[in-house]
Amino acid sequence: MKVTIVRDYRELSSKTAQLITEQIINKKNSVLGLATGSTPIGVYQELIRKFQKGELDFSKVATFNLDEYYGLSPEHPQSYYFFMWNILFKHINLKKENVHLLNGITENIDKECKQYEALIKKSGGIDLQILGIGDNGHIGFNEPDISLNTQTHLVNLTAKTIRANSRFFNTAQEVPKKAITMGIGTIMQARKIILLANGKRKARVIERTINSPITTKVPASVLQLHNDVTIMVDQEAASQLVNQK
Ligand code: PGA
Repeated sequence: MKVTIVRDYRELSSKTAQLITEQIINKKNSVLGLATGSTPIGVYQELIRKFQKGELDFSKVATFNLDEYYGLSPEHPQSYYFFMWNILFKHINLKKENVHLLNGITENIDKECKQYEALIKKSGGIDLQILGIGDNGHIGFNEPDISLNTQTHLVNLTAKTIRANSRFFNTAQEVPKKAITMGIGTIMQARKIILLANGKRKARVIERTINSPITTKVPASVLQLHNDVTIMVDQEAASQLVNQK
């Protein structure tokens, strides 16, 4: 794992946007894996800025999002569909048919998950996957568990995740209890991965992701087995790493 420690959130966002830009310049029809949550918002704002300055063209790019709450329709303000369109997609020149998000109100979970996996394969696979990380080590919504489902699947969210995400809802009761997520295996098949974390709150989980033995209790630790992962952290999130520069 390559660990890049940057000064602050601003630098985390600009450096990551730069890496995404290089990916798209090198391969116009890149397939991006995208994440939601508060962490990547700065990256998306930077991508919009680059697009507006004419430095980036998304017309051949395809995207696949990591996950979606189960039970929320695309129109729901807390759905990841709604989030992605408002935060990023509507501001850039991605083609609608190249945008892929899981359907949170599907009537056939199994079919939805298999179709998503098939679409990723058909697109040639994910070139660059952006990840956030939960306080409990989840990537996508792959929560700590005794076994890790490797394919796109339905998960029960842990109480910790529900509590963490309740900040976006009026009450904790409104947070969906389930989600559909790419599996760890889906994520591991991406050619390149950049995991982002900022702030003191993530310091402990970042330390465990990098230094702990690979364990399903910290799903992100499985990334140690991938051959092209960059852990992009600000100084606060890196504060529990020994030898940090
Ligand atoms: P955050 O969420 O970016 O809002 O911290 C990350 C996650 O839960 O994966």
